[in-house]
Amino acid sequence: MQVPERIPHTPFPFRVPATQHFGAGAVERVADEARRLGARRALVLSDPGVARAGVAGRVRELLEGAGIASGLYDAVEPEPSVASVERAFDAARRGAPDGAPYDLLVGVGGGSALDTAKGVSLRTANPGPLQQYFGVELVPATGLPMILIPTTAGTGSEVTPNAIFDDAERRLKAGIVSHRLMASVAIVDPDLTLSLPPGVTAASGLDALTHAMESYVAVKATPHTDLYALEATRLIGANLRAAVARGEDRVARYGQMLGSFFAGIAITNAGTGLCHAMAYPLGSACHVPHGMANALLLPAVLEYNMTADLPKAARLAAALGEPITGLAPREAAARAAHAVRALSRDAGLPAGLRDAGVPEDALPGFVDGTLSAARLIDNNPRRPTREAVLAIYRQSY
Ligand SMILES: [Fe+2]
Repeated sequence: MQVPERIPHTPFPFRVPATQHFGAGAVERVADEARRLGARRALVLSDPGVARAGVAGRVRELLEGAGIASGLYDAVEPEPSVASVERAFDAARRGAPDGAPYDLLVGVGGGSALDTAKGVSLRTANPGPLQQYFGVELVPATGLPMILIPTTAGTGSEVTPNAIFDDAERRLKAGIVSHRLMASVAIVDPDLTLSLPPGVTAASGLDALTHAMESYVAVKATPHTDLYALEATRLIGANLRAAVARGEDRVARYGQMLGSFFAGIAITNAGTGLCHAMAYPLGSACHVPHGMANALLLPAVLEYNMTADLPKAARLAAALGEPITGLAPREAAARAAHAVRALSRDAGLPAGLRDAGVPEDALPGFVDGTLSAARLIDNNPRRPTREAVLAIYRQSY
C-alpha cells in the first residue's frame, strides 16, 4: 500500500458544506433544500449576465413553485468591491416584496456572485465596514443561511469558507476566511456551464487547476486533501480542452465541473499559496481576471516550488498525462509546469503578462502586495524572497 510521503504531525480537520448536490439537473433540488432550511422568503443574488441567461429566473420559479417568495438582486459586480457588497446588502435589508425580512440567500453565478452572497450574509449579522473582517476567522456572528449554485467551473466558492473582495481604498484584493461563510447547501450542476464562452471556460478552468495544484503541494495539505487535489488535477487535464473547444460537450463539462468542485474541497482544507498571492495584485492594479492571472503565473510558480517536494511535483505531472516513467525525479517534476503551459496555450489564454496588458515597469510594485498575503505565503511549500517573487513575475512576462 502506498502511504503519504509527508504525514502531518498533528491531527487535522476536514470540512465541507453539510449538504452538497452534484450532477446534471441538480439545480432542480433548490426548492427542496430551501424548504428543508425552513425558508419563507429568499433573495437570489446574481450578475446581469446570469440573470439574462435565465438561470436566476429558473431558480426563482423553482422556489416560488414550492411556496417560497423570492426577490432578485442582479447587479453583482465582476471581481466585487467592498462598496458593491454594501449595495447588495442594502437591497437585502429592504426585505422581500411584502416587506418582511429575507430568511435565505441564494447565490447563483460565478465566484463574484457567490462571494457577494457571502458578504451579504456576513453583513446581516455583523456591522460594517466589511474590511474589519479581512483575515482568518474574524467574523463574530453567523448571518443568513446560503444556498450557493455556481454557473462556472472555477472558483470553488460554493464549498469554500473564503470570499475575496477588492478594497478600492487600500488598492488591494483581500480575503475573508471564516467558517461562517460556508454555504448550508452547495448545488453543483454542470449543465449550467453549457453556454459559457470559451474565454470564461478557459480562465475559470485554469483557476480551478491552480487550486488543485497549489493545494496539493501546500503546507496544510493532508492525506484527505491530496485525494481531492490530485483527482481534480487529473479531471481538469482530461476535460478542459474539450470544454473550451466544444462548449456543449456535456461529458467534458461534467468532468470539468467535478474537477473544479474537488479542487474547491481541496482548498477549503489545504488553502492556496504563492500563485494566488501573486495573482491578487494583478487583479487589483491591472484588472487581470483572477483565473487568467493564475494561469499566467502558475507554470513559473510550479518550477519555483518543485524543489520542496520533487515526488509530489512529479505526481502532478503524471496526473496531467505527462509520461514520466524512467525520468530522473527532477526532470519528472519539471514536466508539471510544461504540461500547464501547454494546457493554457491550447485553451487560448495569453502567453504571458505582456499579452494580458500588464506594463513591465509595474512588476516590482506587485512584490509588496504578494508578500503581504501572509495566509498564502505561510502556506507555500517554499518561503519566497522578494527577489524570487520578482523573478517569477519577470519569467511570467
Ligand atoms: Fe482562485
